[in-house]
Amino acid sequence: MATPTELNGAVNPLSEETYGVKVTDPCILVIFGATGDLTARKLFPALYNLKLDGQLPSHFGCVGFARRPKSHDDFRGEMREGVNNFSRVKPVDENIWKSFSDQIFYHQSNFDDDKGYEALKAFLKELDQKLGTKGNRVFYLSTPPKFFPTIIEKLGQHGLIYKKGKEWSRVIIEKPFGHDYSSAIDLQRFVRGHLAEDQIYRIDHYLGKETVQNLLVFRFANAIFESFWNNHYIDHVQITVGEEIGIGRRGAFFEEAGILRDVVQNHMMQLLALVAMEPPTNLSADAIRDEKVKVLQALRPVDMANFSNYVVRGQYAPGFIEGENVIGYREEQNVSPASSIETYAAFQLFIDNWRWAGVPFYLRAGKRLPKRATEIAIVFKEVPGILFSQTSKSNVLAIRIQPNEGISLKINSKVPGTGSPIQPVKMDFSYSSYFGLAPPEAYERLICDCMLGDGTLFARGDEVLASWKLFTPILDRWNEGAPGDFPNYPSGTWGPKAADEMLARDERAWRLI
Ligand code: BG6
Repeated sequence: MATPTELNGAVNPLSEETYGVKVTDPCILVIFGATGDLTARKLFPALYNLKLDGQLPSHFGCVGFARRPKSHDDFRGEMREGVNNFSRVKPVDENIWKSFSDQIFYHQSNFDDDKGYEALKAFLKELDQKLGTKGNRVFYLSTPPKFFPTIIEKLGQHGLIYKKGKEWSRVIIEKPFGHDYSSAIDLQRFVRGHLAEDQIYRIDHYLGKETVQNLLVFRFANAIFESFWNNHYIDHVQITVGEEIGIGRRGAFFEEAGILRDVVQNHMMQLLALVAMEPPTNLSADAIRDEKVKVLQALRPVDMANFSNYVVRGQYAPGFIEGENVIGYREEQNVSPASSIETYAAFQLFIDNWRWAGVPFYLRAGKRLPKRATEIAIVFKEVPGILFSQTSKSNVLAIRIQPNEGISLKINSKVPGTGSPIQPVKMDFSYSSYFGLAPPEAYERLICDCMLGDGTLFARGDEVLASWKLFTPILDRWNEGAPGDFPNYPSGTWGPKAADEMLARDERAWRLI
């Protein structure tokens, strides 16, 4: 039987059990922007857990590339602290850490410094000899997006990106991939000028979440759901990405981004595509991504003449979260006191294809909402009100992405006793109580997949562009004028009134989560 590496990029992510633990090629991972938050909070904890689970190649090295001078040991110490604080598995195993830390190195350079890249090239060759990593490379761009072109260009100029041959080189790009449609096209052109599509891994960490991956299994491995997954039975779909956290120390970033660019254009669109896509012909990366992109391309452009019926934006005011007073967005560090940036957005979208014609998809995402909750709710049509004097409620299939990962189905049931009062009850499946395991972190899965050459759980260029195409006119409309009513929702509430009104106009309401 072929191993995943022999399948050369056609690894089926849903049949790992065929192989047991996946086997990755020897390689070196170079992290650009290695002194940033993401490296210590997410990337190193993920690498350490992969090491612990025996999923890192035995011939492996990791080089942090950043501007600040520091020694290998300084860097190892900082990463150890990150692993201590953020690892899924604790406490840190001293023996594993010792052998892992021998594989960690630091390289100081500016991102545009040719000498720095020449030195990196020589250093990687030296490490190949020492660690047996055979020339294979993953370059992880964990830098502000303005550095992506420079880094990719320099990697190419210094022979660090290979076009062909036995050795491979891949580049992981953190979001945001562009800040609107035209910048995303420019970036896409640039990147494709330097790399083949199968060398580019646009990371969207939502795709690495277990529950998001389970959407495909849930939909296509269960005959009963597929038959009513369409406009004959489904009244509407609600997708919520709620967070109780505010902006914290990310004010400068958020002032540029806003919730639409930060969460909606990428994470939420991936959720929508997975819920709405047709069955792929097989489980290869391209077959799945082909189906997702068709959904995104079928999204109906927002009706600009009736904009407020389809789009709502909000910004949090001071309020209470979990019994504590919290400040408003405009009082956060590095945020303008007159900021027009949205920390909440809601949309009514339509997918103009055969399956979904006429079914609204309501999306909402916000910071400083009452709780952290990411959920997809499929709300079914009501039965004809003929048989029972009391109206029954719609069936709702709720897919909880996080926390308390699981799936519940609300059905109507007779209350025991005489008479026939009807009450909605829930059938509930919870991952943790059923499997008794904490799912791996998204970054573990994604880094591992990139080393395997499996792009299934990464966004393809055409998906990113289709999503920007939908949202760019909305951003343009928002840019035309400052919202008169900001801030328009107190922290700790479910967003602005206008978002409730958007659904009320259709005689619907947001679910209480
Ligand atoms: C990130 C956003 O991509 O996703 C953050 O930049 C957001 O603003 C985060 O908080 C949410 O991710 P998760 O995994 O906590 O749901």
